[in-house]
Amino acid sequence: MTTGKVALVTGGSAGLGEDIALHLRREGYTVLACGRRADKLEAMKARGVEVFQCDISRRDDIARMHQWVVQAYGGLDVLVNCAGIAVQRSPFVEASVEDIERLVQTNVLGTMFVTQAFLPLLIARKGSVVNFSSTLAQRPRAGSIAYSATKGAIEAFTRALAIEAAEHGVRVNCIAPALVRSEIYLAAGMSAADYDKLLAARAKEFPLRRVGEPEDVTGMLSYLVSDSAGWITGLCLPVDGGAMLR
Ligand SMILES: NC(=O)c1ccc[n+]([C@@H]2O[C@H](COP(=O)([O-])OP(=O)(O)OC[C@H]3O[C@@H](n4cnc5c(N)ncnc54)[C@H](OP(=O)(O)O)[C@@H]3O)[C@@H](O)[C@H]2O)c1
Repeated sequence: MTTGKVALVTGGSAGLGEDIALHLRREGYTVLACGRRADKLEAMKARGVEVFQCDISRRDDIARMHQWVVQAYGGLDVLVNCAGIAVQRSPFVEASVEDIERLVQTNVLGTMFVTQAFLPLLIARKGSVVNFSSTLAQRPRAGSIAYSATKGAIEAFTRALAIEAAEHGVRVNCIAPALVRSEIYLAAGMSAADYDKLLAARAKEFPLRRVGEPEDVTGMLSYLVSDSAGWITGLCLPVDGGAMLR
């Protein structure tokens, strides 16, 4: 069954975005996913997701992706701004300029420029946007200062855009996950063994005694883009195993 709706998931080729893309596909959306790595995108294509190679930190890539969506699909109903990166943890004074710039360019500017490009299409269909923050925006930990700052910016962006977009019938919300099993720390250079150790150690800290799995987040995403959430905008919702209670 198809909904006749089109959803674009940035970062839809791995981690949370991969699970979201496949779920929306099962719900009957035409799902478009973007990312940088061609092999990851090809794997998604084989699973029924339309793909486009796009680095969201590059405005020329975003413009090309926008043209592709207009020409091939004619519009957009749902934008999921899931693409994001982390970097190796370090005290803030030791954080490299390059890492801080990469974080801002991808997590903040990438999300903002993708949204700016696609907002007219979303307005035309009274669609919705879901951004990705992190519990680290509101409950920071030492060692990831710049990452927390990018996610704080996304929460402010979500609320500010929600006001303006509401005039056009477009809803803008944000999900703030705590630690969820994905590729983000591996992409930032952590070894698989260290990541497994981190997941095991941190699981005990959650009131619900486990880290998140991508499907924990997908459930919330599915609700936020659905008509059931038609009166919900400007929210930043933790999906966190109770972490925000601490
Ligand atoms: N996992 C967690 O514990 C956690 C917790 C809180 C918040 N989050 C947030 O949730 C979102 C998804 O994270 P994740 O854990 O699923 O990460 P992930 O497993 O590393 O997946 C990230 C996805 O984004 C894509 N991507 C990264 N940089 C990109 C760029 N410049 N342009 C286009 N695509 C890009 C990646 O593909 P390519 O590398 O091929 O480009 C990949 O598809 C992020 O915004 C992250 O900050 C994650």
